Formats: sequence, structure tokens, C-alpha cells
Amino acid sequence: MPRTLEIEGLELRIFPARNDAELAAADRLADLAGERARRGLSCVLGLATGKTPIGIYRELVRRHRARDFSFGNVETFNLDEYWPIDLKARGSFHRFMHEHLFDHVDIPRGKRHVPNGSVPAAEIPKQCRDYEDAISRAGGIDLQLLGIGRNGHIGFNEPGSDAASRTRLVELTEETVNDNRADFDDPSKMPTHALTMGIATILEARELLVLAFGAQKAGIVRDSLRGPISPRLPASFLRIGAKDRKVTVFLDEAAAAGV
Ligand code: PGA
Repeated sequence: MPRTLEIEGLELRIFPARNDAELAAADRLADLAGERARRGLSCVLGLATGKTPIGIYRELVRRHRARDFSFGNVETFNLDEYWPIDLKARGSFHRFMHEHLFDHVDIPRGKRHVPNGSVPAAEIPKQCRDYEDAISRAGGIDLQLLGIGRNGHIGFNEPGSDAASRTRLVELTEETVNDNRADFDDPSKMPTHALTMGIATILEARELLVLAFGAQKAGIVRDSLRGPISPRLPASFLRIGAKDRKVTVFLDEAAAAGV
């Protein structure tokens, strides 16, 4: 059983080990999608990439293969993607999602959305508007999965991002580039920009499930939850309006060491 704590309307669940948190997160996603399927409704999930959610996707794929769970009523929107990028390149979030989830489960074609990082510069504003419109047309995001970057970013909303920001092109910080460089075949060619849902886009989700694991996240988790709410630390914005929506933070003991 996890320990629980409440901070300004955010519910923290602190699990003995990462794997316990991953299974609990997979449970939450599957329960929500299943409950909506029983009522004949679609379920709109906001998805994340990076090391944090991999275990959740692994568990969902396992359940799907065991015929325990269908994504038949699920529509997904990923938080972000590098720009410019070849969608098939190692390091692209498009490829990541195919490898870790999309190729193994039954999310209907046309219902899996990742910002298109292969568009030319002139098409970026339209691409970003269309992404926001597609989320609205789907009825908004029921549950958004979120990791926290070591510099406090959520999606690719880097320090300095505005709480009112929407899906847009951003420049990545040096720290983020360094953290993710190894994902690329030629690290010197890692994109320095990205398309990301904005903070306002993220905060419109009806439920947020935030995850952070490992001692290397302990400092940023503490500062995000206990420090001032500020654009210098985008993850601190998760506390805005947290009392009015469901915001749950799943941590392992190592990431929770400072809270
Ligand atoms: P990570 O990244 O899951 O690879 O630690 C989290 C993030 O940058 O949002």
C-alpha cells in the first residue's frame, strides 16, 4: 500500500518501489477507459514519453495481450514532439509511441495523435492550432499522464513558460538537450526545438496523473510541490486549481525523499 499525503489539493501516493506505482497507474488508466466503455463513451488520454511512463505502457500492453483490456474506445494525444524531426528517426516521440504502445494495442487508427514534428516552419502555427482543435473536438482530455523533467518542465514547457501557454514551438534548454541526447543515433543532430502542448492545454485535462521516480527527481519534486508557484518551475503550475480537478502524483520513495 502506498503512503498518501495531500499538498494544496494534490494527492500524493508514495509507493515502496517504482514498479508498484507503474502498476497502480496502469490500473487507473484501464479503470477509467473501462468505466467509460461500459457507459458507451470514448476515453481521451493524454500521453507522455521519456523513461518515466515506459513501465505503464509495458503493463497496458501485457493486459491487452492477455485480453484483459481493450483500447477500442480510447483516443490519445501526446504532449510533445521534437522539431524538426524525421518521424521514423530513433529519438522521435512518434517512433517511441509506436515501439512502446501503438504497435501492440488496438487504439483505432486516426485516434492516435502526436504533434507532427516533420512539418516545415511555415506550417507550425496551423499544426499547433489544429492540435488544439482536435483535442477540443474529442471532448477534451479525460486523463493526462505527465512526467517531470529534471529542470521542472512538463511536456516541453521549459522554465519561463507562461501559465496561459498553448500548443506551440519552443526552444529546448541545454539541460533538456543534454538529458535526451543519448536517445539519438547522432547525438550532435538532436533537435534543439520542439512542439508541445502548453501549460493551459495541460491544465484543462479533467484529471492529471503525474509521475516521478528515482533520487535524481527528488529535488525537483520537492521544489515543484513545496516551493513558490512560478514560471521558473513549470511543474509548480500543477498546483493551480488542483482543488477543482483530480491531480494525483505517484512517486517512489526515492523521488519523495524531499517532500
Ligand atoms: P524522463 O523525462 O521520463 O525521461 O525522466 C521526464 C520529462 O522530461 O518530462
